[in-house]
Amino acid sequence: VTPPDLSAETILITAGPTREELDPVRYLTNHSSGRMGYELARAARNRGARVVLVSGPTDLPPPAGVSLFRVTTAQQMRDTVLEQVASCSIVIKAAAVADYRPMLRSGEKLKKHEHRLTIELEKNPDILAELGALQNRPFLVGFAAETTDLRTHALAKLQAKNLDMIVANDVSQVGAGFNVATNIVRLIRRDGHEEQLELMSKELLAHIILDRIQESRQRAV
Ligand code: C5P
Repeated sequence: VTPPDLSAETILITAGPTREELDPVRYLTNHSSGRMGYELARAARNRGARVVLVSGPTDLPPPAGVSLFRVTTAQQMRDTVLEQVASCSIVIKAAAVADYRPMLRSGEKLKKHEHRLTIELEKNPDILAELGALQNRPFLVGFAAETTDLRTHALAKLQAKNLDMIVANDVSQVGAGFNVATNIVRLIRRDGHEEQLELMSKELLAHIILDRIQESRQRAV
């Protein structure tokens, strides 16, 4: 039985990959399944929060009772998040946002002619960094999927994006990261709290992340 300890909160959660189109039939994306974000949305809802779930393309059934906004590209995710954020006390950015998008999107299917094809990419907006720069920012939680120097990179992101907490996972480990039901993470908070968690289900991890958010906010009061 979960207590409704988040019933005063509106929590915005982003989940899944984004998809950056090259032409009407092709796109760039990554291996994110959306599972971590969907487990967070379900856990937060079960604990009484109002949940706004902004989801990139996934095959997962959305949890009942959450406000779901489906988006495709990073730019759409950014626009939706910025529209919704004013009503939210906590934002958890579990989405694997594509860092780059093709400079040009062809209206027609690209034809094969040459031996080599060069595609120019331009940078997508960093949604989390934009949220970190807001005057009145919500409690901000980011994710960091890394393959090397996990702690160093995660700490740098926490600082650079002005976050309250970061969930760092080494996606090169078996049982961690993309497209599996489990994860192995290190939680690092701005207030100095830091802990390495064992391999566990994303469902249990979602609850621990919410617990640590609550603890941090209660300390700050
Ligand atoms: O891609 P990066 O490792 O910088 O991602 C760290 C955090 O920033 C994640 O929580 C991710 O959702 C977020 N992010 C974002 N917009 C981007 C890239 C990443 O909000 N364009």
